[in-house]
Amino acid sequence: MTYHLENSIFMTGEPKIKDWHNPFNYSEGMSLGMINWDGRLSQVIFPALEKIPVEKRAVVLDAGCGTGMIGLKAIETGSKFVYFIEHDAQMIKVLKNVLPKLLKPHQYKIIGSDLEKLKPEWFDNGIPQVVTSELFGPTLFDEGYVSVVAAIKKLFPRAVFIPETFAQDIFLTDVDYSYPIWPQSAEGQSTLEHYKFLHHSKGWNTIEGNFYPEEKTKVGVIKFKTANQVFKNAVEFKHQGKEQLVYIQSYVTSHGYKSNQALFGFYLPKSAQEITYKVEISLATETLYRPLLTKVEL
Ligand SMILES: C[S@@+](CC[C@H](N)C(=O)[O-])C[C@H]1O[C@@H](n2cnc3c(N)ncnc32)[C@H](O)[C@@H]1O
Repeated sequence: MTYHLENSIFMTGEPKIKDWHNPFNYSEGMSLGMINWDGRLSQVIFPALEKIPVEKRAVVLDAGCGTGMIGLKAIETGSKFVYFIEHDAQMIKVLKNVLPKLLKPHQYKIIGSDLEKLKPEWFDNGIPQVVTSELFGPTLFDEGYVSVVAAIKKLFPRAVFIPETFAQDIFLTDVDYSYPIWPQSAEGQSTLEHYKFLHHSKGWNTIEGNFYPEEKTKVGVIKFKTANQVFKNAVEFKHQGKEQLVYIQSYVTSHGYKSNQALFGFYLPKSAQEITYKVEISLATETLYRPLLTKVEL
């Protein structure tokens, strides 16, 4: 992710610890959507963090910390020390400027590194008990969370992760031409062509608008649990008859909280015969963590 600071609009003020979530207080003038919408962190990550007693999260690792909002919240609510880890050079520059204004030197360390290349000797201020992160791509797993968890667990096997679980409910449903996806047409024909195009050319498409799971048929769940690193990465189902859509609702959960993430889908053409399909989050190197739809040859 690249942040374009030169195009930013907020240019005033110095950050204050009590008010770090206000973008106007970042002297870098970041106009990052992430900062402007801190509500997203209030759905799972912040409440999960606060649910953990402070002595069990004295040392926190903010993995892919970006602006540092999660680590700052940890300190604000009682954690003693945060490792802020980020690989984006521009973001590291921001962190190096902003964090000293918000925190005391004994409260944090900035580590500019890829999360999969961490060295144990960098963690000289205590073993992280809790690892927080917000590595959710548009298809949930595409920012590499599964490998990041594996790499961090190798160093810190007892660390608790927030979020705890990454999941996708897979639904099978009729094509709904009233969905406001682009390009839209009164007849719905170009919408259908759009689904077909994306399905064949890109392998998946994004569906925006309203979603009513209670009206859909759920065919399975894809789920990755950080605690034991078990990844149920595929769901098989049968299809026959008219064209249908596979709807995939992504979400994360942690410590009793849940937050929906992106929704996307695949188009299934009509078929006289019964076909077994498989939706899977790829573990192959060339398509790593991409969702794929394949026909299962029986
Ligand atoms: C969705 S943003 C997180 C934003 C952050 N929670 C905040 O509130 O600003 C993900 C961040 O993780 C960083 N990131 C992604 N993969 C990484 C990796 N493998 N190693 C280090 N940083 C990574 C990105 O550069 C980006 O800043």
